[in-house]
Amino acid sequence: MTDRSRHLIGLLLGAEEDWPQAFEALLHRVGTVTLNGTEHEFGSRRLTIEPFDLTDPVRVGLVIDRLAYWYYHPREWLKKAALMNGTYLLNSPFTFQSMEKHSAYCAMLRLGLKIPKTVLVPYKNPVDNVRWAYTSAKYNKEFDLDAIAEDLGYPLYMKPFDGGGWRGVSRINDKVDLHSAYDASGEMLMHLQATIDYDKFARALSIGAETMVMDFRPDEPMHNRYAVSHDFLSPSAGHQTVAISRIVNAFFGWEFNSCEMLVKGDSVHPIDYANACPDVAVTSLHYYFPWAISALVKWSVFSLATGRRSSVDLHTERYFEIADDESLDYDAKVDAYLGLADEHFETAKYHEWCAEHLGDFDLRVRDWFAGPDFDRLLRETVTTTYPAHEHDQFLDHFRGLLNQWVVEQG
Ligand SMILES: Nc1ncnc2c1ncn2[C@@H]1O[C@H](COP(=O)(O)OP(=O)(O)O)[C@@H](O)[C@H]1O
Ligand SMILES: [Mg+2]
Repeated sequence: MTDRSRHLIGLLLGAEEDWPQAFEALLHRVGTVTLNGTEHEFGSRRLTIEPFDLTDPVRVGLVIDRLAYWYYHPREWLKKAALMNGTYLLNSPFTFQSMEKHSAYCAMLRLGLKIPKTVLVPYKNPVDNVRWAYTSAKYNKEFDLDAIAEDLGYPLYMKPFDGGGWRGVSRINDKVDLHSAYDASGEMLMHLQATIDYDKFARALSIGAETMVMDFRPDEPMHNRYAVSHDFLSPSAGHQTVAISRIVNAFFGWEFNSCEMLVKGDSVHPIDYANACPDVAVTSLHYYFPWAISALVKWSVFSLATGRRSSVDLHTERYFEIADDESLDYDAKVDAYLGLADEHFETAKYHEWCAEHLGDFDLRVRDWFAGPDFDRLLRETVTTTYPAHEHDQFLDHFRGLLNQWVVEQG
């Protein structure tokens, strides 16, 4: 008799309906996976927010989280699930809360990656605390903001140390901009950062062992930010962008993340790569949406069926040993870090496993995206996202891009 193992995937969701419905539909199409005589089946449920006893059992083996970054109750539930129940998390709040943009800059600088020169300045406005006046009078050292800016060079960027979603980001062209932006920063803690004058903005979305590097155009409206272009980087820059994204994620234990890199010639400069809840909306990813949702399904199924464990520890010393090895140049270090990252994500095993156990899944994915259920979902999403007079235009736009994807799958 064969053993059966039933796995449940929890979805922690905000307002989105598009990708969860696609995920549920595709997960259903995985069917049964037989591994060493055990039949594995997969299901999902949307998690609700309710009181929990810290010792309660957790029924889901893996959680995909799009909510805990903003909402603390599920965040604490995730921590309990990770520590008490060994639940596999995409992502773990332990590493995301403690590693916001600033710490991520420090860690990747430590590895020798090309982070633009960055300075953290003290708060413009003192924190609201009665002891502050004394501390400030005694210990807050006066500093010359203009001199820091001149050293970095204009134009420069001023942005919060824990940034995300363009909150509080400004491009500073001169002294006047500098002082008005700093005055306006109030109780936000700010970085000043040298500008990278880039040719290409590469935005990589990573899900477990899979990475898609996309040609991002930040000045375009949301529906048009990702260009569909496959060879927009040189082979060397292309290799580095994939490697850096995977290294960042393995280093911090992140499973579902996006990494923004500014590329000038063959030089790749990561500037923003701690995005705990990366955008996977069909209205922004369009052509890349089927890849993203099927990667989420495949990585979840692989992790559950193979019993992959996650850990709340980081093993930074292995990376730092490479960083400190003076016999290695930049490219050799990147390749050595990538070796650790691929070991962490079991990249080779993952691809072999998918080929062996999910052989015709990609075809099912294609058929679903070519069929009426996806078209209904797309229509629903467009209707709820755009004003009525734009429905036809956007429906045509996204149908065109997704149809291109379907056709290219052969
Ligand atoms: N050092 C830089 N050089 C050039 N452009 C930058 C730099 N830093 C930020 N930008 C621009 O500002 C945008 C927002 O900055 P980012 O660090 O990504 O903040 P957020 O975390 O809010 O997304 C980037 O997408 C990029 O267009
Ligand atoms: Mg950004």
